[in-house]
Amino acid sequence: MDSNTDHLVWGVTIAAAQTEGAHDRDGRGPSIWDTFTKKSHKIKDKSNNQIATNFYDRYKEDIDLSIDIGLKIFRFSISWSRVLPKGTGSINKKGIAFYNKVIDYCLEVGIEPWITTYHWDLPQNLQDKGGWRNREIIIDYENYITLLKDHFSDRVKKWILLNEAIVCVGAGYFLGIHAPGKRGIKNFSASIHHMLLAQAKGHRILKERKGLEVGTAVSCTKIDSYSNQRKDLKAAKRIDALMNRLCIEPYIGLGYPEKELPLVKRFKKFIKDGDMEEMKVDFDFWGIQTYAREVVRSAWYIPYLGSVLVTPKKRKVPVSVMGWETYPEGVQYFLERFSNYDPKKPLWLSECGIALSEKEDDSERIEYYKKIINGMNKVVDKGINLKGILLWTLVDNFEWAEGYVPRFGIVSMDKKTLNRKMKKTAFWLKDYLSSNSV
Ligand code: NOJ
Repeated sequence: MDSNTDHLVWGVTIAAAQTEGAHDRDGRGPSIWDTFTKKSHKIKDKSNNQIATNFYDRYKEDIDLSIDIGLKIFRFSISWSRVLPKGTGSINKKGIAFYNKVIDYCLEVGIEPWITTYHWDLPQNLQDKGGWRNREIIIDYENYITLLKDHFSDRVKKWILLNEAIVCVGAGYFLGIHAPGKRGIKNFSASIHHMLLAQAKGHRILKERKGLEVGTAVSCTKIDSYSNQRKDLKAAKRIDALMNRLCIEPYIGLGYPEKELPLVKRFKKFIKDGDMEEMKVDFDFWGIQTYAREVVRSAWYIPYLGSVLVTPKKRKVPVSVMGWETYPEGVQYFLERFSNYDPKKPLWLSECGIALSEKEDDSERIEYYKKIINGMNKVVDKGINLKGILLWTLVDNFEWAEGYVPRFGIVSMDKKTLNRKMKKTAFWLKDYLSSNSV
């Protein structure tokens, strides 16, 4: 048994748009994902998330399953348009009541609820006014956070404000492959800046209440250069700055990484006096989420980035069903890298998992998690302040533009009956956690 990681706390992460379903029940307003999935060509298997795993009705079952496996943390996100159907203005009491039930049930059965305030499902009404592109959204987000604080912070002590800002904005406002399907550098620049500033403000609001621990969850992708040629090395640094530094370093007071990522100059017209100062935030913890590695080389013909990915297929390396290179080594790499920013800062692996195509036999996932444990062992040995790991995810769910094909869950679900069934990984983990006396 890996005794030096005995102190690590294990939990699970889910997100509203990927699990809740009940898209039009009890006064919930539409989100950008409701609109986006109506354009069926946008989702690979032409599915939508109207039912998803129906966490809305089955939350008790999922929380019970988590307890049964031995997990101690249940991280879920709030659907903004369930509590504020128009994103702003009148409150949906039934939406608040739903999350109260989830929180109270967690506490009753002995698992710690964590809230993610934003996991990509913006109310459609706010998108109609420009969404994250429009600076006014910062005020809407502040009001939303105040509402969440007023209703839930008496019982929920751990908060994650944004989930993976770079993926959310990159896919939704630059590449157009996620909701709201916007493209282009202007949309990207404005949205990143407004989102990061909103998060800083949200942090201050939550911290008004004593005893809360407020963090953020960042997506981390290991970037390597295709060759040792200067231009490829430079391209790799550029993509690394985009993927792994852009949404992090402004908080530490380092500003946007303009030297390595010249497109940041485009941000200037959206930055107002005092913004960068306001962006400095001392999060109580960083949530690291890492899945894959990318190899890049220089390509002058790609606007703004001047780099291109050398696909895993070309490199002939093992991939997950997402088409991503499976790279559990990223855990050790990023935990060490983040600890270099501030060795004392508590770190969580706030998401971690692999997409397979299986239903129940997911032995490959067990091997994956063993490698993750190995990586965690190494960093704990080095004295890195890692606190725990939250799996992505409990039940196979709606994987955004990929639909339901990639299965990240340690529990499968029958699409017709919605019945859950623990996979091999869940049984293995249950064993591991009980003998590890976490
Ligand atoms: C990170 C995102 O937070 C989550 O929503 C997504 O399903 C997983 N990565 C897997 O792609």
